[in-house]
Amino acid sequence: MANYTIAVLPGDGIGPEVVNEAVETLKVISQVFNHNFTLNYGLIGGSAIEAEGTALSGFTLEVCRKSDAVLLGAVGDPRYDKPDNDIRPEDGLLAIRKGLGLFANIRPVKVYQELENNTRFKPEAIRSTDFVFVRELTGGVYFGKPKRRWETTRGRRAVDSMVYSEQEIARIVRVGFELARQRKKQLVSVDKANVLMSSRLWRQVTDEVAREYPDVTLEHLLVDACAMKLVQDPRYFDVVVTENMFGDILTDEASVLAGSLGMLPSASLAAVPGAGLKIFGLYEPVHGSAPTIAGQDIANPIATILTTAMMLRYSFNLEQEASAIETAVQEVLAQGYRTSDIINESGTIVGTSKMGQLVRSKLV
Ligand code: IPM
Ligand code: MG
Repeated sequence: MANYTIAVLPGDGIGPEVVNEAVETLKVISQVFNHNFTLNYGLIGGSAIEAEGTALSGFTLEVCRKSDAVLLGAVGDPRYDKPDNDIRPEDGLLAIRKGLGLFANIRPVKVYQELENNTRFKPEAIRSTDFVFVRELTGGVYFGKPKRRWETTRGRRAVDSMVYSEQEIARIVRVGFELARQRKKQLVSVDKANVLMSSRLWRQVTDEVAREYPDVTLEHLLVDACAMKLVQDPRYFDVVVTENMFGDILTDEASVLAGSLGMLPSASLAAVPGAGLKIFGLYEPVHGSAPTIAGQDIANPIATILTTAMMLRYSFNLEQEASAIETAVQEVLAQGYRTSDIINESGTIVGTSKMGQLVRSKLV
């Protein structure tokens, strides 16, 4: 029997409800496949500010460091949204990414056949879209220095800096190549090399790394062109790799293809994944804390349940268990069960906990 330690950070808003369904799913997996998951809970975001005075305490970070993986719900609380607020729940997210070295954010975008009528696109334009975004998560303009605001005689000024080292570029691009190798072997690298210095370095380093992956086809795409291509022809993509802010923007755009943010899981990894490796990672749904629907048992837990599949795959190297969860989700959708964000004419509407139960019922 294998032992795995998981730090669980439910966070704010709908975070605790959806994380609960994910945790229950892990418990069923542990029984069916005979594993032992030890769960250590911690606070992050608004709930941490409330209890500990900071969006991410050293204590929580320590709990995460001592674990094999982290499961996170969502962070964000409207009470801290004022522009001049100096502690924000989102700081907890940036601090945990940086603090745990989670440089590789993996966001799969999959259009389920059952949901192809739920989007704003013509079903035939998005049918069987299935690609993976690899977003750099600990560098670029989010963290680059100088980053400050000051007064001049002619008024206020502010600066952020998009900074990348060749090592930072090479390691994230490698993640893209490794994932492409396990898929259709097509990697698109997104930059703004016609304008930005950091993008020119990005492109050069990407071409250098590409020599290690002659079996993968590499294409460079400018970020504006990529934004267009994503909605024009999403099936074009297999694996996309890009820097932090471009990835932030493009993954929100791509999420619309799936019909609901409530369907999209993500993984943030601390190393380049490769065959047979167990790597430390943080797993969270792409959606936010959705405070307006919190505590009402209506949030879609599927994204968070699917993050546990990613955890089993990338951090524990348990592919069979991961696929079992993904298949269970697919089966529940095929039977017509829907949370309110993905409801259509023929579906049966269910709440958060019922959706979780249905998925678990397919695992036993
Ligand atoms: C995301 C979010 C975060 C980001 C925010 C909440 C800081 O938008 O994970 O995409 O910009 O990275
Ligand atoms: Mg975002």
